[in-house]
Amino acid sequence: MNYRHEFHAGNFADVFKHILLTRILAYLMRKDAPAVYIDTHSGAGLYDLAGEAAKATKEALAGVGRLKPPFPPLVEELVADWARLAGVDAKLAMPATYPGSPLIAQQLLRAQDRICLVEKHHGAAGSLRIACGRDRRLKLFEADGYATLKALVPPPERRGLVLIDPPFEASSEFADLRLALDEALKRWPQGTFAIWYPVKDQEPERLVAHLAAMRREKVLRLELDIDSPTPGALSACGMIVINAPFVLAAEARRLLPWLAQTMRQGDNPRWRVDEVRAG
Ligand SMILES: C[S@@+](CC[C@H](N)C(=O)[O-])C[C@H]1O[C@@H](n2cnc3c(N)ncnc32)[C@H](O)[C@@H]1O
Repeated sequence: MNYRHEFHAGNFADVFKHILLTRILAYLMRKDAPAVYIDTHSGAGLYDLAGEAAKATKEALAGVGRLKPPFPPLVEELVADWARLAGVDAKLAMPATYPGSPLIAQQLLRAQDRICLVEKHHGAAGSLRIACGRDRRLKLFEADGYATLKALVPPPERRGLVLIDPPFEASSEFADLRLALDEALKRWPQGTFAIWYPVKDQEPERLVAHLAAMRREKVLRLELDIDSPTPGALSACGMIVINAPFVLAAEARRLLPWLAQTMRQGDNPRWRVDEVRAG
């Protein structure tokens, strides 16, 4: 297993994930009380969009490269944080670098908050350490994301977000994820959990059904399909949000149709926003 996010940084899936991440964090930051951000699969933190990996796949061109200001009034306020942090500019084909989830969180969290970053791979963890610099709010674990999550929850702050964004290379990923989520939710039922996933087969369906059956509150399921014509290429991805901010579903109904049109590859881009309830 040798997943390296630099080949995919800034692609449609990153744009989808990171705009939603900024919206969840913006909501968490509305209260003065401290919050924690836990990133179980952090990646390298900052990606060179002019580098060999990004040039080889050109995925960023079809992702962040498609989002140019000025943005339509309907979504302007919803993409503002992401656009500022991603450095998108109407005059540039593409920003030179692209920030990953840890750097986005680092910029949006405040002095009273905590940031816990987990990355298993030595090379990515080293790059992440450099990208984050000195930050007394931050703790970096070079370790397994699921095992570390178990040790980090419940956090003393009792409010915060866990982002789970694995590479989905292992056939057991959904099963591992489900076990880790069950354990974490048992320990911290009030936490907000955002889980990114590729839409490939019935696995997301089964995970959503399991979560809905297990919990009385709503599970929010968001998906974006850019209708890629390239065989084998990722065409659709989603995010499951547990204990989502109440505004997120309405915001996603504004954002996703626009993202689908803006980053579409074929004639039939799709999106969905489901508020799933048990029973
Ligand atoms: C999709 S990337 C993360 C991207 C990042 N969350 C972002 O949005 O910028 C997945 C990362 O998980 C790391 N990884 C793989 N297995 C892991 C594990 N068991 N625990 C923690 N990290 C792992 C990979 O090295 C890779 O950097």
